[in-house]
Amino acid sequence: MELLHGLLNRVSVQRLQAPAPSQVQLEVILQAALRAPDHGNLKPWRAVMVEGAGLDKLGQLLHQAQLERSPDSDAQTLERCLNMPHRAPSILVLIASPKTHPKVPTAEQIQATAAAGHAMLLAAYAQGIGAVWRTGWVVAHPTITQAFDLQEGEQMIGMIYMGTPIVAPKSVPVVNSQAFIKHWH
Ligand SMILES: Cc1cc2nc3c(=O)[nH]c(=O)nc-3n(C[C@H](O)[C@H](O)[C@H](O)COP(=O)(O)O)c2cc1C
Repeated sequence: MELLHGLLNRVSVQRLQAPAPSQVQLEVILQAALRAPDHGNLKPWRAVMVEGAGLDKLGQLLHQAQLERSPDSDAQTLERCLNMPHRAPSILVLIASPKTHPKVPTAEQIQATAAAGHAMLLAAYAQGIGAVWRTGWVVAHPTITQAFDLQEGEQMIGMIYMGTPIVAPKSVPVVNSQAFIKHWH
C-alpha cells in the first residue's frame, strides 16, 4: 500500500473481531512505531499487548476501578466495564516512559510516544487490521496503572484496540485544510 494512500485514508474501526494481529503483523506495527520521529532517539515508550485471558483480567480490573470511583454504580455500568476489553481480540496498551535527558523535555517524549501510536495505527491499517485508539478515565485510574506497573513519570497514552474489522470502513471525512494554515512570505 502506498504511504500516501494510508495517510489519507486510514480510519478508526470500532467494531472488531478475532483474529488479532499475528506475531508477524505485530512486529511490523512495532517496527513502524520505532520509526516515528523521536528527539534524541530515546524510544521513550513501552507497550503491553493484552489478549486472551488478559482481556478478562482487564475487564475485572475495570469493574473494580469503576466501583472504586463510583461505589453505587448500577449493574449495567459494571457489566459494560467487564465487557469493555472484549470490543477487540487484542489491546495494545501504549505507555509513555520519559527518560531524564538534558535536551529533550518530557513533553517532547510524550509527543514522540503519540507519534509512535499514530505509526501503529497506520501500520495496522496497511495490513488490513482494524484499530481504534481509546483512552478515557481508565488510563489514569490507579487500579489500572498499577496493574500495568506504571512507574513514577510514566503515563498511559492509549489503549489501541486491534483486530479484524466486522464492518466496512467508514468514509473519510472531507476537511477544509485552509482553516488550519496561514502562509508567511
Ligand atoms: C489520545 C487519543 C485518545 C482518544 N480517546 C478516545 C476514546 O477514549 N474514545 C473514543 O471513542 N475515541 C478516542 N479517540 C479518537 C479515536 O481514536 C478516533 O481517532 C476518532 O474516533 C476519529 O476517528 P478516525 O480516526 O477514523 O478519524 C482518541 C484519540 C486520541 C489520539
